[in-house]
Amino acid sequence: MKKDLTFLGIETSCDETAASIVREDEEGNVKILSNVISSQVDEHLKFGGVVPENAARSHAEKIDIIIKKAIDDSKCKFEELDGVAATAGPGLLVCLMVGLSAGKSIAGILKKPFLAINHLEGHALTPRIFNKIEFPYLLLLVSGGHTQFLIVEGIGKYKRIGTTIDDALGETFDKTAKMIGLEFPGGPKIEKLAENGNEKTYVLPKPILNHPGCNLSFAGLKTAILRLLPKIKTKKDKENLAASFQKTINEILYIKCKSAMTEFISKYKKDKKVFVISGGVASNKSIRNNLDKLSKEMDFENFFPPIELCSDNGAMIAWAGIERFKKGIEDNLDVLAKPRWPLDPDAPFLKGAGVKY
Ligand code: KG4
Ligand code: ZN
Repeated sequence: MKKDLTFLGIETSCDETAASIVREDEEGNVKILSNVISSQVDEHLKFGGVVPENAARSHAEKIDIIIKKAIDDSKCKFEELDGVAATAGPGLLVCLMVGLSAGKSIAGILKKPFLAINHLEGHALTPRIFNKIEFPYLLLLVSGGHTQFLIVEGIGKYKRIGTTIDDALGETFDKTAKMIGLEFPGGPKIEKLAENGNEKTYVLPKPILNHPGCNLSFAGLKTAILRLLPKIKTKKDKENLAASFQKTINEILYIKCKSAMTEFISKYKKDKKVFVISGGVASNKSIRNNLDKLSKEMDFENFFPPIELCSDNGAMIAWAGIERFKKGIEDNLDVLAKPRWPLDPDAPFLKGAGVKY
């Protein structure tokens, strides 16, 4: 007999301590009953980045409070949960261990199913919370640590068709912002600055743009900005640089997304083609407009998660838990954290691709 499914989702893979309660009713309607996120951004500023041990300590101090608040906000009781999902990777080992242990303990005490979630699968499935998106679909995953084109063939079934060979796109936004004196996370700050800038001021490189396939590269762009720095003095210079940078990113994404779409059409689907863009960078409105335009041209229906679900959150983990549970998947309580956990384990290791998958 079909029934409601109510899941707790826990996320601690990097610098956000997050928990959420998500319920899918028997008709398939989904409600996020609570979504609590505590960011450590301010705590990490004085160290110039995320120090894993500090981040883990902060998760450990907050996790009980955040989970309790998620339960209270949802007006549910722990006993009403049908399952518990927690991020098991990829991410910082000591951080992952905090949320994973909390999730396993709650599931164990309640004697409820436990699901160990790949954080990237959380991002990949988020647009399915509110839209009936069928498999397979093309996914551009753009976050602080990852930039990949994947074909989502089903729950747990991913084919990587392109990846960054150096920096992730979110990281490129963050480093560019840092170079012009803006604090982490730089993405939203660059977007704001760009609103008042002239995008034609600086001509920046578009690495490997003409190479066939869907791989991306951003390291050369970062170096070019570093060389320009002596010329960037006034607020106007910074606005112009931000606008030129964002325009360059949009041009790179336009060409590479078009290649990914062409590959998707040739290998997978010619009708009802869907393009999903998710991860923190997907909140950028200029990128959204650019990819909306491309999707129309290429006859793809496109979906972005709501802005508040683009960056890391517990709802995407609870939802991935529900999706996997409905496929009959459960994990044992002895599951371990996996700092490296590619969505497509068969994708070739790219020389120079660092740890970006
Ligand atoms: O998905 P996310 O919250 O965390 C990871 O899994 O990495 O993504 C965070 C990244 C950061 O690099 C941040 O600067 C970027 O997403 N970001 C943006 C915007 N909002 C967040 N980048 C560009 N424009 C934005 N509006
Ligand atoms: Zn993320």
